[in-house]
Amino acid sequence: MEVPVTRYPRALVVLHWLVALLIVAAWFTGEGGRSVRVNPPVLHFAFGLSVLALVVPRLAIRLVRGAPALPETMSPLMKAAAKLGHGVFYLFMIGLPLSGWYAASRMGVPVSILGYTLPNLTSAVQGPAGLIGDLHEKGGTIILILAGLHVLIALWHHFVLRDGLLKRMSFSA
Ligand code: HEM
Ligand code: HEM
Repeated sequence: MEVPVTRYPRALVVLHWLVALLIVAAWFTGEGGRSVRVNPPVLHFAFGLSVLALVVPRLAIRLVRGAPALPETMSPLMKAAAKLGHGVFYLFMIGLPLSGWYAASRMGVPVSILGYTLPNLTSAVQGPAGLIGDLHEKGGTIILILAGLHVLIALWHHFVLRDGLLKRMSFSA
């Protein structure tokens, strides 16, 4: 008899927690405006680019192995909201690093990771990065707020609904 999948594959669990840490680290190491040109936040670039690099295998595993079905106790509306929310996170995990990389290129700041300098995404301009930089900065704050909401929802499932949702994303067997 086929056993129903009730938890995320281990690889996705590892990637989930690693990427969560990287996003928080990218947020704390972010710099805005002038100081980016004077003293490029190399750690910020490295953390953010790691998010971009890891989202590729993460999406691939997610598409091939799928996510476990959500608890039957959740209403169709809540299930749809959860899927939408997770999809929004994926968009941010791709859009944020790319917009940051683009903003850095506009500022003429070379972007490197582990000693490798990446190509510029656009030509440099005088002055601030403009709209793309603003969108990136706002996006960086929005993803952190969404992550906070996501944590509250996870805790709600764990302590109030007690439907074992947190266990689906835990390392234990
Ligand atoms: C998940 C990944 C990322 C998050 C959460 C994030 C978050 C942020 C935040 C919150 C700021 C504003 C900091 C402040 O004003 O004090 C910022 C600025 C910036 N970030 Fe990121 N970032 C990410 C990835 C990247 C990447 C990969 C790059 C470049 C390769 C990058 C380049 C920049 C640049 C150039 C700015 C300054 C923009 C400006 O002043 O117009 N970021 N980032
Ligand atoms: C920046 C931080 C975070 C991001 C971007 C994030 C993103 C995601 C995404 C996209 C999923 C869907 C699964 C997937 O497709 O990989 C997910 C699931 C999950 N996350 Fe997070 N997460 C973050 C932090 C946290 C934290 C701190 C907790 C702890 C309470 C948490 C608890 C969970 C749980 C329990 C699930 C499983 C939900 C389910 O069963 O469908 N996440 N997260």
